[in-house]
Order: sequence, then C-alpha cells, then structure tokens
Amino acid sequence: KGKKRRCWVCSNCGYTDGQRRGSCRSCRSSGTMQQFTREENGCGSEKVTGCEASEKVRTWLLQRDGEVRPLRLTDVNRGLNPSEWRIPLYGPFGEEVSRVLGGGLMPGDPGVGKSTLLLQMAAIIAEGYDLGRTAPVVYVSGEESVEQIGSRADRLSIGTEELYLYPSTDIEDTLEKIRVLSPRALIVDSIQTVYLKRVAGSAGGLSQVKECTLALAHFAKKTNIPVIMSGHRTKSGEIAGPGDLKYIVDVVLLLKGDKYSTHRLLQSTKNRFGSTDEVGVFEMSQSGLEAVLNPSEILLSEEHYESEVMVGQAVAVVIDGSQTLLLKIQALCLPSSTIPGHVNGIQGRRTEMIIVALLQQAGLKLQGTAIFLNVLSGVKLTETAGDLAIAAAICSSFLELPIPYGVAFIGEIGPSGELHVVPRMKERVHTAAKLGYKMCIVARSAEKVLANSAFDGMVIIGCQNLKEVINTVF
Ligand code: TYD
Ligand code: MG
Repeated sequence: KGKKRRCWVCSNCGYTDGQRRGSCRSCRSSGTMQQFTREENGCGSEKVTGCEASEKVRTWLLQRDGEVRPLRLTDVNRGLNPSEWRIPLYGPFGEEVSRVLGGGLMPGDPGVGKSTLLLQMAAIIAEGYDLGRTAPVVYVSGEESVEQIGSRADRLSIGTEELYLYPSTDIEDTLEKIRVLSPRALIVDSIQTVYLKRVAGSAGGLSQVKECTLALAHFAKKTNIPVIMSGHRTKSGEIAGPGDLKYIVDVVLLLKGDKYSTHRLLQSTKNRFGSTDEVGVFEMSQSGLEAVLNPSEILLSEEHYESEVMVGQAVAVVIDGSQTLLLKIQALCLPSSTIPGHVNGIQGRRTEMIIVALLQQAGLKLQGTAIFLNVLSGVKLTETAGDLAIAAAICSSFLELPIPYGVAFIGEIGPSGELHVVPRMKERVHTAAKLGYKMCIVARSAEKVLANSAFDGMVIIGCQNLKEVINTVF
C-alpha cells in the first residue's frame, strides 16, 4: 500500500508536471498533458496507472521522480537577482569612487566571460536573425542553476522563447533529453564539468574531458547539430592537459582578457572553415559583450591613467588579419645573473635575436641582465614588424630613459641590427596618425615607400640600424 500521486506528462516532450495545466510548460504544446497515477510499491520501484500511455511516455514516466529536463528560458523562475556585475558606489561620492574602481565594486572573482559569450551566442542562434526563423537551442550548464542563468539572461536582455536551459553534467542523459527538441545548436558550459558514466575518473580530468569531447563530436557529426562547448585553459595554456582536444574539434576560439580591463579579445587558433588570423575585440558591459568597432582606440585607451612618458614601454603597429592594432610592449631590465628573464606574448627566439643585435650592434651591455618582456592587452605579437618596438622598450628600460609620448615603432630587425621595411607600411602609419601619434620610427628603406603619402601631422624618421634608433629617440 504505497503512496499514490497524480502527475501529468507531456506526450510530446516528456515534461512531467505535478499540476494540471492546459499546455506543456516545456515544449508549449497544448492538449498534450496526460494524467497518470504513480504508486510506489514499497521496494523502490513504481507502478504507473492511468490513461493509455505510448511506449515513449512510459519510459519517460518510469524515469526517476523530480527529474529535470530542458526548460524554456521564459519559464524559469528568476528568484532574487544575484549581484553578478559591479556594485555602484554613487551617493555622496558621485561617480568618483565607482569610476576609479572601473565602474563599481566587483563581487567575486570574475571569469573571462565564457558563460556570458555562450549565452549571448545561444540566444542569437535561436533567434536566427539571418535565417528569418527561430529554432530551439539548448544551453547545458554544469556550473550554474537555471535560476542563475535566467537572471543573467535578464541582465543581458535575453528573452528568447526558443532558448532551453538544462542544468546537467551527465552527457548521455543530456544527449538523450535534447533529442526530442532537435535543436539548431547545443551549447555545453563547460566541458570540464560534464562526465560520461562509462568513463573512469572525475569530471574535469583528462580522460573524462577527452571522452566527453569525443562523444559530443560524434553527436555533432551524426545529427548535424553543431555543438559549442567552453573550457578553461590550464596554466600551460591547454584545455585539460595535452592539446589533443583541438584535434577532435573543428574550431578553437580563445577568449582572452585581463582581469583589470573590460575589453576581451576573441581569436581563433584553429579553424577548419576559415583563417586563424582574425581577432574580434569586445567590450564587457552590463548587458554583455559588445563588438568594438575601432579596436586600436580601446587597446590604447588605458593610457589615460598612465603618465605621459613611461620608461620601458614602446608602441608597435601590427596587423592582425584585417585589423591594424597598436600594441604596447613593456620591458623591464634587472641587473642580475641569477634570475632568468621572462617573455610573455612574444616568441622567445625572436627576442633572443633582438637582444643579440642590441648587444653586438648597438653596444648595449645587456650581459648579466634579466629581461622581462610583456605585450599589454593580452595579444600575442607574432609579426616581425614589432621587433623595433621590442628593442626600443628594452633600450628604454635598460638606459632608464623614457620614450616620448606619441612615438610608434615599425620595423623588422636583422641579426646584425639592421632595420628592414615590413609590408603594409602606409596602413600602419595611417592608423597611428589617426590615433594621434606624432612620430613613427621606421627602417630607412621604408621612407621611400611612404614618401608620396601625407599623414596628418606625422613625422617619419628612417633609421639604418639600432644604434641610429637609440641616438634618435633617447
Ligand atoms: P562569466 O561569463 O561568468 O565568465 P566565465 O564563464 O568565463 O567564468 O563572466 C564573469 C563575470 O563578468 C560575471 O560576473 C558576468 C560579468 N560579465 C558582464 O557583466 N558583462 C560581460 O560582457 C561579460 C563578458 C561578463
Ligand atoms: Mg562560466
């Protein structure tokens, strides 16, 4: 004599409800809710009685009680809105304190923005702007509850009907549950929180991450449903250990950004369907990531809180895909033969060559100096056009002489310290001029290339080698 309970099950999607409703809260079909009676038989299993159930409904009914399934974003109870974004401090302070803090107090430790990006993508895909019709998209989260995602969606002004949220960490269960929805895309946030029952090890471990990725890739190929998943990189820069995930997936995007800055860079490091040269620049806001149309300005906008001249900083003008970026290179030279230097964002070999050239051609006594190099704003400097700025930053730090404000460096350095012209000089100088730079130091041979163009108030100085650069700048 077990307890009897009534329940209603949607014959379309299997959503189980404890109340009688006119339409299904999950898939919105009307007239599909069928009433059943559940009776526990005392030994853990259940007997289901009621109107005639199809095979499909039966299996749904026999699933564990209270089981969750994808829920429409618009049906999620928001609860209290957690203060996810900054807490402003206006009142008697006016905007001063908030502005100094970068827009208010930041609660918790902010991530780079993966979940935000994915939720925005999910909504955009579901809306299907360019396709002209909406379609379901399932957002699976192993990190947050539907309520949390719901309130984030509110903040991002996302109210897409076709967006389904599913808090689950079980991959098999997820793929099974979303089948009835046949979504336009499946989003998994994140790969490090999901697991497969048949695989040993805990979620986030190497074998789970790899097997789950394989399972999702297999699902994507079999069903033609694109799967987008997030993951955070380990210190060595890989998602969960070796780089084998990138051989399983078609596209790898990196979302990069500095904790203290509100801009984010999206870069592809693998793309079976396009080039990997492109970088997208975004600004974080209360309502999510927004595209930045003139990235150079943002990359240099942090300048306002620095003094006009800085020792050990030089600006390079690089071209990344179709964009011209002004990058700040920071160098720090410490007299020490015991600490090894460290290079961040620049290829090690390139740096070594530049240091040798500075030693031999320019006569800088860099022996016994630990050199630290960093590219600000998280961009990796891969172009040789940045060589001259690296050399200038090192010189400035080593000689403890600042580089005047408004000077940009464009040029490649050869092994014996000679400067070489780089491609697309006009574009580079033009962008620097547009951003208010007053002087470009270039290779002597680049002067000819630039001779016939006029740039707004820009002085071009051509140098033969590093020694000449030092004599000109410092
Ligand atoms: P979140 O997307 O949760 O990062 P991740 O999934 O990588 O850990 O974002 C981190 C915090 O920053 C979170 O509090 C939301 C906030 N945020 C915004 O308010 N606006 C934005 O544009 C982004 C990207 C994040
Ligand atoms: Mg997240």
